[in-house]
Amino acid sequence: MPEPAPGLRTSDDTFVEHTVSPHPHADATRDRPTGSFGVAILGLGTYLPDEVVTNDDLAATLDTSDEWIRARTGIEQRHRAATGEATSDIAVEAARRALDDAGLVASDVKMVLLATSTPDYKIAACAPMVAAKLGIDAPAMDLNAACSGFVYGLQAATGMVTAGTAPILLIGAETMTRIVDPSDRSVSILFGDGGGAVVLGPDENAELGPFDLGSDGADPSGLYIEAGGSAVPVDAEMIDDRRHFLTMRGREIYRFAIANMSASSQRVLDQADLTVDDVDLFVGHQANIRILNGVAAQLGVPADRCHTTVNLHGNTSSASIPLCLGDARDHGRLPDGTRVLLTAFGAGLTWGSTLLTWRNP
Ligand code: ACO
Repeated sequence: MPEPAPGLRTSDDTFVEHTVSPHPHADATRDRPTGSFGVAILGLGTYLPDEVVTNDDLAATLDTSDEWIRARTGIEQRHRAATGEATSDIAVEAARRALDDAGLVASDVKMVLLATSTPDYKIAACAPMVAAKLGIDAPAMDLNAACSGFVYGLQAATGMVTAGTAPILLIGAETMTRIVDPSDRSVSILFGDGGGAVVLGPDENAELGPFDLGSDGADPSGLYIEAGGSAVPVDAEMIDDRRHFLTMRGREIYRFAIANMSASSQRVLDQADLTVDDVDLFVGHQANIRILNGVAAQLGVPADRCHTTVNLHGNTSSASIPLCLGDARDHGRLPDGTRVLLTAFGAGLTWGSTLLTWRNP
């Protein structure tokens, strides 16, 4: 069995505290990785709704248990949006904090990208609402690559920054608890709500990339909401059958996730002419600790170079990577120069990986 990631109970209930190990490459003078871009994260902000839902809370109404959920997923709790709190509200809070962190104000922002699968409305786009709430007068659009959305957004933003549009506000924000069937124990236990945002701009000393993005849409039904789109419009019968909620073939997705995040991460390292020994911190999409441990084991990333928050947040889809980066910084795990490997997978199916070198804003 792979080493458990720090700070998590795993299926054998081993608890390993987060450790802050020195980053061997943090101070080294070195060349920029092949295929990377001079695009920097100028600021980072995160937001989690106040309400915390523990596994025991769920077990009060569902045929499940804290023990089952911890052992199968590593999740101990998740946050849930308050009644009336929408994805745009979560995105706004995270974005405000990212702008403060960058020392920027709304009028500085030239583009808003919102990665989400749970916009406030099916139409209109959610990003313009976020921009309006923040007082940003700039183009704004949603980007949906499901849980890979933040990594996809990093590549989209990199292209835009390189083409002269900056700074860009990139947000991953979700209200996943609104799209799961609360009576479906196989899915509802997995997800939480939250948001994370970064501000991106040009910096010739920065390193972001290379990127490896991919998709395979041959059969989206392993992880989807069947009813409510143009293929299967929602009607009363669909709602009676609860086909307007997220469904998943868990084992299939589990295998897909490990195989594709591992292969994609390796392709990024190969493109960059680096090895896993050159990576200081591994931050994968926080879906399930067993998936994260499986990817780390396939890549050969030691446990003390993984940062995980799935125990605290559950699966927050496109918000999970910026939330995990924020937590890593709070735990002192992102000193200047830390090289971070990011990887994600999502419904679609989609996947994506990249490297970034953290620079303290
Ligand atoms: N509590 C108790 N028992 C449960 C629960 C629950 N919450 N859910 C399912 N079970 C039962 C099942 O009914 C089944 O019972 P049976 O053996 O009597 O039939 C048994 O537990 C085993 O069920 P499996 O689904 O085979 O359990 P598995 O070990 O595969 O774990 C899990 C399920 C955690 C969902 C796993 O398959 C998984 O993590 N898959 C990937 C999930 C994921 O990350 N999806 C992505 C979401 S979206 C995104 O990130 C892009």
